[in-house]
Amino acid sequence: MLGNFEYHNPTKIYFGKDALDNLLPEIKNYNRIMLSYGKGSVIKIGLYHKVLSLLEEAGKTVIDDGGVMPNPTYDRVLEGCRKAREENIDFILALGGGSVCDYGKVVSVSAYCEGDFWEKYIENKEKPKCKIIPMGCVLTMAGTGSEMNSKGVISHKGLMKKAGVRCHHFPVFSILNPMWTMTLPKYQTMSGCFDVLSHIMENYFSGEDDNTSDYMAEGIMRSLIHASLKVLEDPNDYEARSNIMWCACWGLNGLTECGKGGGDWEVHKIGHAISVVTDATHGMTLSAVSYKYYDMIMPFGVKKFKRFAENVWRVNSAGKSDIEVAKEGLFCMKEWMQKLGLVTDMKDLGVTKDNLEIILKSVVYNKGGYKQLTPKEVKEILS
Ligand code: NZQ
Ligand code: ZN
Repeated sequence: MLGNFEYHNPTKIYFGKDALDNLLPEIKNYNRIMLSYGKGSVIKIGLYHKVLSLLEEAGKTVIDDGGVMPNPTYDRVLEGCRKAREENIDFILALGGGSVCDYGKVVSVSAYCEGDFWEKYIENKEKPKCKIIPMGCVLTMAGTGSEMNSKGVISHKGLMKKAGVRCHHFPVFSILNPMWTMTLPKYQTMSGCFDVLSHIMENYFSGEDDNTSDYMAEGIMRSLIHASLKVLEDPNDYEARSNIMWCACWGLNGLTECGKGGGDWEVHKIGHAISVVTDATHGMTLSAVSYKYYDMIMPFGVKKFKRFAENVWRVNSAGKSDIEVAKEGLFCMKEWMQKLGLVTDMKDLGVTKDNLEIILKSVVYNKGGYKQLTPKEVKEILS
């Protein structure tokens, strides 16, 4: 390992079927709880009422904050900030997937921000210096890793941008019960699985040194691929659901980026640009472009792609050239994606020729991978 790094992760994880038992002890010092959730799935699955009765029985004042949309917007964050201030909230409890967790985190550092949070935290990369409202998550969808990191991704429709806020504050705790993920439609489950793989690949496909993070990444990728196929066979397979949930957490809690110098992250940059013009779910915006992207950059990082083929997809390299092995690995990834029903073509996300130009304008170009793309190459990937 040649890179320098700092690793710190204070989020306490409660994992398993009884994880919710830890909610009240965790929030015993808080009284005014803002209960943030999405468009209704937590009500349908019974989680909302379970949490609400726990809070009410404990005498907490609950301020309802439902209706957070997938890919939460700048305007919705401002609304949440206003509510948090007016109601003098002392804890934010996010119930849902990555969108609600992200939203809760961004509100927690923005409610008392002097000035515009987008300008301060995203454009000027300032650290929050204002009063922070602590927050915690009860997760219902595995994928983003938001439950154990300090990022929050927000869409700004006015600026036609989607970007990550570095909150510098983590959830105090996250409650992860894989049972709550069983109600996810197949499309969302698999989208989450691809998001996990993508987070790990973004770090893995960068750097040339022998790095422990890459060995851990390979292990997590293998566990994820195995578990996703199990869930495909049986959506109620608790063991597989729990492995996916744990892989998601480790996929983006900072572990696999240690010593990687920032990683690649171009697939996510393209995915975020696609989100500017579609409501497509996050993982699918990544799966739509990943095979073409990796196929394009593979000749610039053949050694690593060969290792990916051998160690993750178990490709037998005997008698084959490095490039043949590398290609076979990517082909295995594509076959797995097709099995899971993941989108592998932009057309399946409803992207038209008109909004292709908007996407191209919104793409941010990173330098950390094996090759920095040109706008022409991104256009090729998107076409
Ligand atoms: O809105 P509700 O009704 O809750 O429905 C959601 C939503 O429609 C539904 N859902 C969630 N749990 C469910 C369920 N439906 C049935 N049963 C359940 N148990 O699933 C849909 C998608 O939920 P969402 O939270 O949007 O998905 P995800 O977890 O993929 O989060 C996506 C957001 O996270 C950001 C993405 O950009 C996107 O905005 N990301 C956050 C990251 C981070 N904080 O580090 C990194 C990621 O790369 C990503 O960018
Ligand atoms: Zn992601």
